[in-house]
Amino acid sequence: MKIKLVWFILFAFGRLLSFAATNALSLALPAGAVAEKPAESAAIRTPKPSLAPRINGPKIFGVRPGSPFLFRIPATGERPMVFTAASLPAGLSLEAKSGLITGLLKERGEFAVTLIASNALGVAKREFRIVVGDRIALTPPMGWNTYYGFRLSVSDQLIREQVDAMVKSGLADHGWSYINLDEGWTMNPASKDPLLNGAPREVDGRIRANGRFPDMKALCDYVHGKGLKIGLYSSPGPLDCAGFVGSYQHEEQDALSYADWGFDFLKYDWCSYQQIAKDDSMAEARKPYELMAHALQKKRRDLVFSFCQYGKGNSWEWAADAGANTWRTTRDIIDKWETVSRYGFGQAGLENYSGPGRWNDPDMLMVGVMARNMPSRLTADEQYTHVSLWCLLNAPLIIGGDLRKLDEFTLGLLTNDEVIEVNQDPLGQQASRVAQDEKAQTEVWARRMEDGSRAVGLFNRSEQPASVTAPWNALQIQGAQTVRDLWRQNNLGIFTNEFSAAVPAHGVQLIRVRTK
Ligand code: GAL
Repeated sequence: MKIKLVWFILFAFGRLLSFAATNALSLALPAGAVAEKPAESAAIRTPKPSLAPRINGPKIFGVRPGSPFLFRIPATGERPMVFTAASLPAGLSLEAKSGLITGLLKERGEFAVTLIASNALGVAKREFRIVVGDRIALTPPMGWNTYYGFRLSVSDQLIREQVDAMVKSGLADHGWSYINLDEGWTMNPASKDPLLNGAPREVDGRIRANGRFPDMKALCDYVHGKGLKIGLYSSPGPLDCAGFVGSYQHEEQDALSYADWGFDFLKYDWCSYQQIAKDDSMAEARKPYELMAHALQKKRRDLVFSFCQYGKGNSWEWAADAGANTWRTTRDIIDKWETVSRYGFGQAGLENYSGPGRWNDPDMLMVGVMARNMPSRLTADEQYTHVSLWCLLNAPLIIGGDLRKLDEFTLGLLTNDEVIEVNQDPLGQQASRVAQDEKAQTEVWARRMEDGSRAVGLFNRSEQPASVTAPWNALQIQGAQTVRDLWRQNNLGIFTNEFSAAVPAHGVQLIRVRTK
């Protein structure tokens, strides 16, 4: 009981601090102002995509038998573009103009499909494996979430605008696909706002969305019409963290509503379940998540299940077994170097828990314009480190900033296909720290890719520029290797024994190393 109380106090204090940080920041600038981006190396590294077609996004896609199939082929290049596919299994059809694949696969099995995109400038092909079985999220989910940009100010209109922005900005052409509604869509009994303060459930117990969401099914249909996916949020407790209604004792009914409406993703946030749990044991932490996982699994719809319990009870050790596709390994992130680096590099040692369908989640990408119109406080180099590290770590890539306000720098950060490919590699091997100089505060992280090459991050956590070296023996490779700079998408040459780079303070050099 005592431990429980201490934990709750720590949790409440943590939330207060994060709230204070957000608000302290807002005092520094007049309302509505957008601070200048830090000038140092704010250079955009990502080259502009070519006008010829290129197919991006995952190379493997899992679906359960009988669940609706929806996949929008992400492709860059001049429009109009025509999409075709070779060996598409019966049951699926492809719309030539939009590249939307829809349908239903009843039987388990694996299908090797070739996706083809052509325009006036050329033709691109890509192998795409569809795996019909029990597992989904075979690559980490990529998308956006309302929380860091909008906190509790969410609405049907906001979601539609973000979906439109995901398509219009081109993000969807690089594989970004989930638009996730976080806290604030259910009723809030303590609220004075008449839109939020109504009966939380129908007479038969079905959950009601609040007045900001007039028609959840229509909203899901809108998102699916664009070829994208939509997520929502609940808590296993009676109320969620800000007092909106959660799913406690209505798990089956809520899972049914989510599936019927057409949601594709559920984030399930511990919050007030702290008062329900009998103790701090792993069994108690796991129980409500397993309950919801079973409820979701019975539905003829694939919902990615994202556990959010801030890493409580070493969730990485049991979450996948309890039905998670992703689980938070940390408390809430903030857009400060200290937190991003502590959370990101703190993933060392968790690599064996991660793999296709089951991902460690060190929280969202703190890039772009956040709540109160505040741009990320991370410097440009810190943002390169953040995105590079999250890609190496197999982390879900969930953007925190407003998609309607993406500047060129942020867009470059989020649309580098060679960088994203590291995150989406079908092998799903999370990077580990393979070399470290504690005094210089430099680290090398590496992962093996499906094609046998290595993706490697040379990181400098110190306050001054440093030279960082990746020795081949740490990468378990030998001899002549071609080294490619993934952010700039150019080859740096052939190296034997090791590769060294000058890395700016808090910065990174992200490379791919291939046998010559
Ligand atoms: C936290 C959670 C955040 C966000 C927030 C909403 O507990 O970790 O990601 O969902 O609640 O209040």
